[in-house]
Amino acid sequence: MATLVVTIVALGAIGWFAYLVGSGSRRDRKDPVPANLSASQTDDELETKRLDRTLVGAVVTAGFLTLAMPIYYLGELDRQEGFVEEFGDASLERGHEVWEEFGCGGCHGTAGGGGVAAFLEDRSQVTVSGWASPALDDVFYRYDRDEIAFWIVYGRANTPMPPWGLEGGGPLNSQQVDDLLNYIQSIQIDQTQALLKVDGLVTGAGNRLEGAADAVASQIEEQQKELDRIRTSGETSQVVGAIAEQAREILDLAGQGIDTDGDGLSDVAESGLSAVARQARSAGFLATEPVFDPRNAETLIGVSDRRSAARMVADLESTATSLSITFQNQETLLTQARFGLDFLGSAARSARWEVDTAAVAHAAFGGGEEAAIRAVGMFNAYCARCHTAGYSAGPAFQQIQASGGLGPSLRDGRALTQFLTAEDMYDFLEGGSDSGVGYGVNGVGSGRMPGFGMVLTAEDLELIVRYLRGPTLDGVEFVEGEAGGGGEG
Ligand code: HEC
Ligand code: HEC
Repeated sequence: MATLVVTIVALGAIGWFAYLVGSGSRRDRKDPVPANLSASQTDDELETKRLDRTLVGAVVTAGFLTLAMPIYYLGELDRQEGFVEEFGDASLERGHEVWEEFGCGGCHGTAGGGGVAAFLEDRSQVTVSGWASPALDDVFYRYDRDEIAFWIVYGRANTPMPPWGLEGGGPLNSQQVDDLLNYIQSIQIDQTQALLKVDGLVTGAGNRLEGAADAVASQIEEQQKELDRIRTSGETSQVVGAIAEQAREILDLAGQGIDTDGDGLSDVAESGLSAVARQARSAGFLATEPVFDPRNAETLIGVSDRRSAARMVADLESTATSLSITFQNQETLLTQARFGLDFLGSAARSARWEVDTAAVAHAAFGGGEEAAIRAVGMFNAYCARCHTAGYSAGPAFQQIQASGGLGPSLRDGRALTQFLTAEDMYDFLEGGSDSGVGYGVNGVGSGRMPGFGMVLTAEDLELIVRYLRGPTLDGVEFVEGEAGGGGEG
């Protein structure tokens, strides 16, 4: 609309200017008498026709302006909104690019629904493949914008989450962090969906508790395999190296001889490569066993045999190289792997992940085991990653329930001394902490304790409060028959 008005006015101005220039030059040619010396119109003419014309012109111009000004003004509002929207869209787009480029989705899930990361666990030197990365599609319900910015800029030390902002030593400037925040805000699920997640997460936490011993046992098995891989790396690197060399030779000569399927690999080469593949696969040096049919140019549908062959040879060569590097560092790696194995062994024996839900039920829930299981599950699903050290890395690395991590220990009656009443504590859990603002009896917030009022129901929050204020967490070993001893104090 605004553009239309501007165009009309501009065209009018150009037309008027052209008329002036045109009439000026016409007069030069045809009418040598200057305007002030030629006879003008009579008074009669001036006061009737000419006056009328001028007045009509003035009214039309005034009318045009009266209409054009508000129309232009209305358009201007739209135009400014349009700019804001355009800038917003551009920021979202840039934010999405940053998200993709720096692989946020690789750990937090493509759509921000949560995921896992691989990380070398510090105390054990064990590489953990399933370090839990929290969902970001509901993070705005738990933190305000500045608090989220803090995590992005500074990361979280001793976890896979690196610092991303320049101030934290990362690559992103504040504009990029801002764009990223806009993008993350745009992928927030709605609140009902956030609440729907709860049951799944609590069930998941329960299953994790039940499967913990098995999970640690299989981790020990993996570590044992890793130890064997390092121990035998000298011989195996030579064996793979020889197989890789043989495969490379076949591939180099594959252009000669009869080639029935015309795929660039002779029939003899194809059967030779199949034999090599079988040998490598049975020795465990290939994840899959490629087959090469001399009468089919694409034995694996969609991939030419020549390509499959080249890939297999490259895989074998890189396995050989990595094994020989392992062999060169054998001593250090062996020490490290043995340390990890011992760590896992002692974790399996001490089973720190265990929670006696029967005791919790008895102590805090008047015997209600269902409520106790739910409370423990809630804690593990929503709180343990900050209040139980090692929780995110898996059961083998986990310390005793609620014994403290990034956030303080909540054991030994801490919840009772910090919050004199259950209501105070509930309010704190509902809103979380604010940077520099006091809470409880002697707490000072850092903004890092999330608020759960928007993602958990009041019922669930009350369960957690009861659990944390119950005697099973107050440091006194629970003894059958002592129920109700601690509690609200
Ligand atoms: C290598 C994996 C990895 C990558 C890549 C990664 N993160 Fe994280 N991030 C994590 C982990 C793990 C945590 C939680 C640490 C913990 O609690 O143990 C986390 C925590 C966070 C948090 C705090 C959320 C909360 O609820 O505590 C935010 C926000 C965050 N990441 C944003 C990002 C953004 C934005 C990117 C991309 C620029 C990104 N992360 C890239 C692994 C990763
Ligand atoms: C992202 C990490 C994080 C998560 C998740 C988290 N907390 Fe916290 N929590 C903290 C931090 C950090 C503090 C210390 C206060 C601060 O720095 O703002 C804290 C403080 C507390 C306190 C006060 C302790 C004291 O003695 O001062 C309680 C109680 C608490 N959290 C309970 C919970 C509960 C219950 C949950 C789960 C529903 C939870 N927290 C989830 C990080 C977390």
